[in-house]
Amino acid sequence: MTTLLENPLRVGLRQERTPEPLIMVIFGASGDLTQRKLVPAIYHLKRERRLPAEMTIVGVARRDWSHDHFREQMREGIEQFSDGIGSEELWQDFAQGLFYCSGDIDNPESYQKLKAFLGELDGKRGTRGNRVFYLAVAPKFFSEAIRQLGSAEMLTDPLKTRLVIEKPFGRDLNSAQKLNRVVQQVCKEQQIYRIDHYLGKETVQNLLVFRFANAIFEPLWNRQFVDHVQITVAETVGVEDRAGYYETSGALRDMVQNHLMQLFCLTAMEPPNSLDADSMRTEKVKVLQSTHLADIHNLDVSAIRGQYAAGWMKGKPVPGYREEPGVDPNSTTPTYVAMKLLVDNWRWQGVPFYLRTGKRLPKKVSEIAIQFREVPLLIFQSAAQQASPNVLTMRIQPNEGISLRFEAKMPGPDLRSRTVNMDFSYGSSFGMATSDAYDRLLLDCMLGDQTLFTRSDEVEEAWRVVTPALSAWESQTNPASIPQYEAGTWEPAEAELLINRDGRRWRRL
Ligand code: BG6
Repeated sequence: MTTLLENPLRVGLRQERTPEPLIMVIFGASGDLTQRKLVPAIYHLKRERRLPAEMTIVGVARRDWSHDHFREQMREGIEQFSDGIGSEELWQDFAQGLFYCSGDIDNPESYQKLKAFLGELDGKRGTRGNRVFYLAVAPKFFSEAIRQLGSAEMLTDPLKTRLVIEKPFGRDLNSAQKLNRVVQQVCKEQQIYRIDHYLGKETVQNLLVFRFANAIFEPLWNRQFVDHVQITVAETVGVEDRAGYYETSGALRDMVQNHLMQLFCLTAMEPPNSLDADSMRTEKVKVLQSTHLADIHNLDVSAIRGQYAAGWMKGKPVPGYREEPGVDPNSTTPTYVAMKLLVDNWRWQGVPFYLRTGKRLPKKVSEIAIQFREVPLLIFQSAAQQASPNVLTMRIQPNEGISLRFEAKMPGPDLRSRTVNMDFSYGSSFGMATSDAYDRLLLDCMLGDQTLFTRSDEVEEAWRVVTPALSAWESQTNPASIPQYEAGTWEPAEAELLINRDGRRWRRL
């Protein structure tokens, strides 16, 4: 009998492989994520011939939709949010594998109905009992859905069933631990795929290749040469129509605990023994265990939150966060967070990692900048009066690539230097667009490769690091306690101070 896990687990430079026939069951099938990201990504994989012919998707949600209505919705999603359906023939073939099954998250009968339907499909589509259950529902439903799947014995076979859980995994350390216990009661860690779409980005994976496939950088990657590291994930969008979710989440839960912490881990971790899932994840856990806010008793020097006020974006006025539809006019939900982290280990002792993320900032840009120490003595004249320290920048998005800033001699009779950049760009080097994060993650999950998914201890450690800030901010409910920044500007003054106090500045991007 063929099972999902017969695929070799080692990936690294994964050969092109095709998953075993399977059914992907998506809970939350009528939601945005399914229509905008998940089904378009699966369709794209189909176009790229990465899927088995038997690939089947079953959407589950409350609404009383027919299979055909679900198919139409998914087609619209593919047309609107990806590069279209391509050939009609391909779409028809794909659509034949799309099904819908209405059901309630908390109703055991819905799971029995679903189970019977999946059994029927196995017979018709040759999917051999292989299942991936994807929870694309609001986080408050995760526990219930997992318990019900457990009671309906739909996750009992670790070789044939997997569970994908979207972020955020828990609301804080306690709830993440609880959720881990719920999951672990019904399935084994090898079945659990906690998703963080940043790990699916090519440029994020390239961090590993850059660090561990090149010999020249690793000797510099430590406290002896690095002055500090800045990790920025800046967005121009506001809360959009997601106030319901965002009000209960905010930037710390929505971005820092997961996406920024993953960027931090890949930058700071030790080289793993191999690229298999556990070696990688163990190294990430180790570095998180050594990491803490610069001063957990004084947040002014280690964690700053902010909220966007009304301002201007691309020449148009935009409302402040508290004026957005669905947002409490006295909300203290942060839309911006800056942090200073320290890592107590031999490699990084004393090297600060500054992290920042925010909505309604002037530019959409995500990058990791490693700033090296200054030269001990400058013997040349510099155009900027002083030589700028070398900076290695890994651009996650947009304009994906890597650049190294260094000093070069200016042409002319004088020995004067000026700062220049050496640049690698994905677009021009590989001549192809980077693929979407969900394509990669969904395929990995179907192939049984957990390397790019977070392990239970990793999620908990990431929560532990941010908990002092979370607890302090949650106890400050006075609307005046949260610093404001004008939409379209970089950060609140308090966040400037966080880094200026150390004699450093945020990069202007
Ligand atoms: C999501 C957050 O996880 O990431 C959003 O919930 C955010 O609030 C998004 O906008 C950013 O992702 P990306 O890939 O556009 O940087």
